[in-house]
Amino acid sequence: MGDLLHDGHGRRISDLRVSVTDRCNFRCQYCMPADGLPWLDRSAVLRFEEIERLVGIFAGMGVTDVRLTGGEPLVRRDFPRLARMLANVDGVEDLSLTTNGYLLERDATALVEAGINRVNVSIDSLQRDRFFQITRRDSLPQVLRGLDELAKHPEVQPIKVNAVAIRGFTEQEAIPFAEFARSTAFQVRFIEFMPLDADHAWSADQVLSGDELRAIIHAVHPLEELPREPNSTARVFRFADGGGEIGFINPVSEPFCADCNRVRITAEGRLRTCLFSIHETDLREPLRAGASDADIEGLIRDAVWRKELKHHVGEPGFRQPPRSMSAIGG
Ligand code: 5AD
Ligand code: SF4
Repeated sequence: MGDLLHDGHGRRISDLRVSVTDRCNFRCQYCMPADGLPWLDRSAVLRFEEIERLVGIFAGMGVTDVRLTGGEPLVRRDFPRLARMLANVDGVEDLSLTTNGYLLERDATALVEAGINRVNVSIDSLQRDRFFQITRRDSLPQVLRGLDELAKHPEVQPIKVNAVAIRGFTEQEAIPFAEFARSTAFQVRFIEFMPLDADHAWSADQVLSGDELRAIIHAVHPLEELPREPNSTARVFRFADGGGEIGFINPVSEPFCADCNRVRITAEGRLRTCLFSIHETDLREPLRAGASDADIEGLIRDAVWRKELKHHVGEPGFRQPPRSMSAIGG
């Protein structure tokens, strides 16, 4: 292996998130407009072989963890084939997936066979009508069936359920999710609402902080904090009476930029060194123009060297990136 990948602030980059499509079958309020977004042309999206080659180049620089995202990754045709290709890339130790779960009932077995070893499923409410209100799809039962299908495969560990925390909505979800976490093997994580919504309707007062949610839960089910794992973005607590654990990802109220080890590739092959990046580095054009692996590696090293020190969400002058979460990859 060549030199490890580092940024100019002394952080080692070992985690790559790859968005495999900008398309999605949901329209979550905090991500997409009701009518969707203008999708990329299929020819603009990286082909499987192109993704495989990029992942190989990153793995050669010490990237061991690869997470596949979208849009909704499972709407990409033949997605399990891509997963298998990436699971076989030398140096990739951990291959994970973030999905809205809608197609998991259909795909769980194929994904496990392909080598996906952990999965995050986004669920913002455990009540059908409120799930519909957020996602604009009446699909909670379908998603829960997918979750159960996945849980039949002990090879996938952990299975996490992620809920975006929005003021005026998620307060009522706290206790039901805590009880879900206590009564199932799924690990529940709340994620603070970030300014990555396509409608640019985000405002700081709509962020329900992890600490507020923790207090709501603690009043009913007392919590004890667990030691933070290296590079984990979540604060994790166990229920004091022993029944499971629950976590809070607080990018807005408690940024974890200082030990961020991630970069991202969009569906059309642009390297983003921060969720909130304003600048991107195109890798598709050089890939298609016949650049060598060494050339691409050089482009990646230069861009990663300039990785943002931190995000400025909530500070005066913050500019929301033009891309929504669906066009970045979560
Ligand atoms: N703020 C926080 N999380 C978001 N996600 C999508 N948009 C936002 C946002 N604006 C989450 C999804 C999913 C992951 C891909 O990112 O719920 O869990
Ligand atoms: Fe689709 Fe995920 Fe965005 Fe919801 S958050 S619209 S599931 S990409």
